[in-house]
Amino acid sequence: MAAKPVVKRLVVLVSGSGTNLQALLDEIAAGGTEAYGAAVVAVGADRDGIEGLARAERAGLPTFVRRVKDYDTRDEWDAALAEAVDAYEPDLVVSAGFMKIVGKEFLARFGGRFVNTHPALLPSFPGAHGVRDALAYGAKVTGCTVHFVDDGVDTGPIIAQGVVEVRDEDDESALHERIKEVERRLLVEVVGRLARNGHRIEGRKVVIQ
Ligand code: GAR
Repeated sequence: MAAKPVVKRLVVLVSGSGTNLQALLDEIAAGGTEAYGAAVVAVGADRDGIEGLARAERAGLPTFVRRVKDYDTRDEWDAALAEAVDAYEPDLVVSAGFMKIVGKEFLARFGGRFVNTHPALLPSFPGAHGVRDALAYGAKVTGCTVHFVDDGVDTGPIIAQGVVEVRDEDDESALHERIKEVERRLLVEVVGRLARNGHRIEGRKVVIQ
């Protein structure tokens, strides 16, 4: 009998509308967890009442929320978030529009397997306003970057990037929507490859086996 394919466990973190999460869920639902190589086992957030959590609930997934303001210190929040994620024993953790910088404890547990997607071509325009900053700078091309998270702001090793042209008539919202179309496909493709093939990080270079 052939060995059963390994299905990796994903915990996805969100702060907003969760369309990247939805793209992962749709891909997995369409082809099955074995073909994709991974299943989303839980969705976490740093705030209540967001569409990202509603999407997880509609998919029948467990959710958890850890709000910074409920903790005395940022470190305590970080440890609580790490603990909540760890409870689901993930192989990979995906930050899909999670708008918080994690701390030491989180990175100690999940460093090297914590993936983030960012709406700009890093190292240009890191931070919370990647789309706005690229537009304000007058960049003619921008895009998205899927990367591993390290202890800087959007500075970790790059896994893949997608390019999007900036149009003269673009405002932040129109440009972000076009970036997100590319970003959702890229994230789904990258997470699947990481799950199915495994990876190693050599300095700044990510090698997917
Ligand atoms: C995505 O474009 C993601 O790159 C961005 O938030 C959006 C979330 O969309 N993240 C950041 O800006 C992180 N610095 P979604 O909630 O619809 O998936």
